[in-house]
Amino acid sequence: MAPRPLSLLKLLAFFVILSVLYTGYIFKSLTFRRRSSLSYDSKNFYLGEEASQLLSGSVHYFRIPKKYWHDRLAKVKSAGLNGVTTYVPWNLHEPEPGEFHFSGDLDLVHFINVARALDLFVILRPGPYICSELEWGGLPAWLLRDSFMKVRTNYPGYISAVKRYFAELLPLVKYQQSKYGGPIIAVQVENEYGLYAGQDPNHLNTLAGLLKNEGIVEPLFTSDGSSVWESEKSTIYEDGLKSVNFKSNPEKHLKLLRGHFPDQPLWVMEYWAGWFDWWGEGRNLFDTSEFTRNLDIILDQKASVNFYMFHGGTNFGFTNGGLTIARGYYTADVTSYDYDCPISESGAYGEKFYAIRESLVSHGFPVPEVYRSSITKPRSYKPLEYKDGFFSLWDMLHLVENATLNEPMPMEIVSYPNAIGQSYGYIFYEMNVDCAKSGDVVVSGLKTRLRGRAHFYLNRNEVGKPILYEDEASTQQDSSSWEVIHSSEMSFDLGILVENPGRVNFDNIYGLDGQYKGLLGNIVLSGSAGCKFKGQGVSAFRLDMNSTTIAQSTRRTGRWRERPGLHKFTLHLRHEAHDTFVDPVSSGFRKGVVFVNERNLGRYWEIGPQKTLYLPGPWLRSGANEIIVFDEYPQQEAPKVLIFKDAPDLGVKNDRDP
Ligand SMILES: *[C@@H]1O[C@H](CO)[C@@H](O)[C@H](O)[C@H]1NC(C)=O
Ligand SMILES: *[C@@H]1O[C@H](CO)[C@@H](O)[C@H](O)[C@H]1NC(C)=O
Repeated sequence: MAPRPLSLLKLLAFFVILSVLYTGYIFKSLTFRRRSSLSYDSKNFYLGEEASQLLSGSVHYFRIPKKYWHDRLAKVKSAGLNGVTTYVPWNLHEPEPGEFHFSGDLDLVHFINVARALDLFVILRPGPYICSELEWGGLPAWLLRDSFMKVRTNYPGYISAVKRYFAELLPLVKYQQSKYGGPIIAVQVENEYGLYAGQDPNHLNTLAGLLKNEGIVEPLFTSDGSSVWESEKSTIYEDGLKSVNFKSNPEKHLKLLRGHFPDQPLWVMEYWAGWFDWWGEGRNLFDTSEFTRNLDIILDQKASVNFYMFHGGTNFGFTNGGLTIARGYYTADVTSYDYDCPISESGAYGEKFYAIRESLVSHGFPVPEVYRSSITKPRSYKPLEYKDGFFSLWDMLHLVENATLNEPMPMEIVSYPNAIGQSYGYIFYEMNVDCAKSGDVVVSGLKTRLRGRAHFYLNRNEVGKPILYEDEASTQQDSSSWEVIHSSEMSFDLGILVENPGRVNFDNIYGLDGQYKGLLGNIVLSGSAGCKFKGQGVSAFRLDMNSTTIAQSTRRTGRWRERPGLHKFTLHLRHEAHDTFVDPVSSGFRKGVVFVNERNLGRYWEIGPQKTLYLPGPWLRSGANEIIVFDEYPQQEAPKVLIFKDAPDLGVKNDRDP
């Protein structure tokens, strides 16, 4: 049948619809108010003609489910702020060299558009190094495949990787700059570079050049602690605006900024509204009255200010960082990035939210109504019964890639049949050992060779205690540099499961190079049993616990055994899902990771401070939801239930200063 020609009426209808759509389109673009560009003199910032104080809050899209971006940014607006600041995490956007992800929960352009629709300006902090308590400060671990790598310098291997990344990232945001009517008004160069131990005097100029080459035209700025301007040695980007970071003593820091840079307005890029937490201590809380006193001083001086964090969100998956400088030994940051800041991890208004509004009102700023969120409050679900859905770690070894090595090497550089290296999660090493007689086997050399937290196994039965080493100088107090295993066997398999607990994200003493994880080389056997490695090499297993492996594992679960492994629970939902908190610790689990519908919610650990994990409603669906608890320790008996809470348990106040 030949197609009938369109009747006149249909043609007319077609044009009517088209014009309606088109006007709708125009209307929609008009509601995006054109952003005026940022300029400044020695006293003021200007957005267009108007003198403006930049009042913004840090909110990181990569720490929040995409469905909640609008809610969280509406709360920024509702505090009386006029902008939002975000870092951009290189490690998440480029998980393998040349493989880029800018969609779903990493859809940066969408985040910027949400800010734009709410008439918030955007300050972009694209790194490439961002600190931010993120794994290795946001640097991708595959950089370590080059053993000469010198991050945060003009080392050619580093710069060429940055160039490739910027060439993907910056064209996406170029037309979001205010020059083109977009909301981006300023772009940061690197992050707190003046404090970096391995400073390269040309690095900031090089990075600024790369930003400009890719079409960044808005003002560039740096952000540092004020001490760097007092030091002869600090590398400073001469051409850019300067901003300062601090938590207390605003007069002192603002005076230093004014004194060193009299030709620009005062600008606090990170007024720390709280602090992060790490495993093994209490929560770091920041008193609201002190927070408000400092804020009043900042506003009295007509300084511009950004709250770090305004809403912290979550270090989902294996994305948390760590420090060796906080305590003189390694501490890994917890999964929650609640930060005790104005908006809680699950989006609730806190005391500091109202304090900001009051302080702004008392300084003559207009403040809108408090935004009424349409997201329902977190609720608990009924405890889920455990029904023999178990998959042991040893079974999982058959699902993941393995390699045979001459001697142990770190996870980043092991070559597997279908993959090179590994960035996150666990790696399992296994080697055959022959002994002269039964007796003690001393495993030593761990101080120089172990990087991460290790469990030890004899024929896949756990022996000794886990040990954590992140550098030679620092160890958790209860650790030793060797492990003694009693063996009655003349021949056995020695297994070592190493977790990457989170690469250090900031180090102003030793720098950030060489953050390899796993075993760096051969360990040493001694002791009365007279044991030796058999010389058949070492098997390495790539336990990055990615979604494919978790999905395959959950299809194969069986009877519970006293082993480390995955425990499956099923949450049936008939109605719309809401936010909740999973409580693996109260359910009897000790240390591990929780997966919900193959998404990694992050780590839990019985030592706290954090006990519960935030589970955002949008990651649940109606029908069956699979919740998997991977625990590193063999349970003494089968788990009974998995418990949920309607409020987070992030621990009690730290009795030491952060
Ligand atoms: C997950 O890990 C498996 C086994 O190591 C590997 O074959 C697969 O390519 C990985 N998948 C993803 C999405 O990384
Ligand atoms: C390593 O992987 C190969 C290929 O998938 C498999 O045949 C072999 O059994 C694995 N080795 C071990 C020790 O699991």
